[in-house]
Amino acid sequence: MADIKRIGVLTSGGDAPGMNPCIRAVVRTALFNGCEVIGIREGFQGLLDGSWGPLSARDVGGIIQRGGTMLGTARSEEFYESAGQDKAAAQCKKAGIDALVVIGGDGTMRGARALAARGVRVAGAPASIDNDIWGTNMAIGVDTALNTICDAIDKLRDTASSHRRAFLIETMGRNCGYLAVMAGVIGGAEVVLIPEQPLTIDEVGAHKRGKTHSNIIVAEGAKVRIQDLAKRLDELKVGFSTRITILGHIQRGGSPSAFDRLMASRMGVKAVDSLLAGESDVMVGLQGRDVIPVPLEQVVSKQREANLEYFEMSRMLAF
Ligand code: F6P
Repeated sequence: MADIKRIGVLTSGGDAPGMNPCIRAVVRTALFNGCEVIGIREGFQGLLDGSWGPLSARDVGGIIQRGGTMLGTARSEEFYESAGQDKAAAQCKKAGIDALVVIGGDGTMRGARALAARGVRVAGAPASIDNDIWGTNMAIGVDTALNTICDAIDKLRDTASSHRRAFLIETMGRNCGYLAVMAGVIGGAEVVLIPEQPLTIDEVGAHKRGKTHSNIIVAEGAKVRIQDLAKRLDELKVGFSTRITILGHIQRGGSPSAFDRLMASRMGVKAVDSLLAGESDVMVGLQGRDVIPVPLEQVVSKQREANLEYFEMSRMLAF
């Protein structure tokens, strides 16, 4: 057992539904084990600015169902620099923090690793709707985002069928096509464009299956610009007029799904348990049915591959 009396917690990077249940689990697990908890506001920038305060069990009451993050989040320019990381490690000492839980995406895990390299005991919990983090099957927020996307596609299909239209629907994900591919399967899309498997505009235009509508999912990182695609489809006269819907930040909001609440709670508990057991420099990841600590060194050095099996599945099922 490590000698840990005070645990800090922060959320960083883009918010994701499920960050709140994860914070709640971290706070209550730490308190249950006799530790104090310090909540750091607005990510690594808050750590640099000394923006923190104690959290009690009641402070995290009534947040399990809330989207966003009660601690606030940020992308800190200052923390990207080595000098900022030195300062952040010193700030942990100043706050009397013996160990830190950071909740966020791949950039946050790189930040956690930088702090670990400076002697801070740290555990990460993966949270990003992009699902681009190596070492976990699912990140916190992905399931909720997929439910939001699914709901949007269902609604767009109604109006698409009524008007014989093709809807080009842009999903988030930065350089990762995960959300788009899964949206293709669960929303029954005709075509999916992702950065990992580029299709030409004319290949997209080639689909004609006698349907009354067409839903085309375009990942934000896809090589083809959605506006160019719409223009070309109009030129090719595929039988549908086109409309563009960019789902945008709607995908990041909303009450976390049951799956996200459960997984976020498990990850928060495991992050604290791992620290108390003497582990550090790890991220807790969902592997099979278990949430286990994975070395951060692996998390930040490996690239999560796109699952092209699902990509092929969405193509086949659109037949
Ligand atoms: O990483 C999450 C994410 O929503 C990406 O999908 C997207 O590219 C980016 O963040 C948007 O960032 P911002 O909230 O800064 O506009």
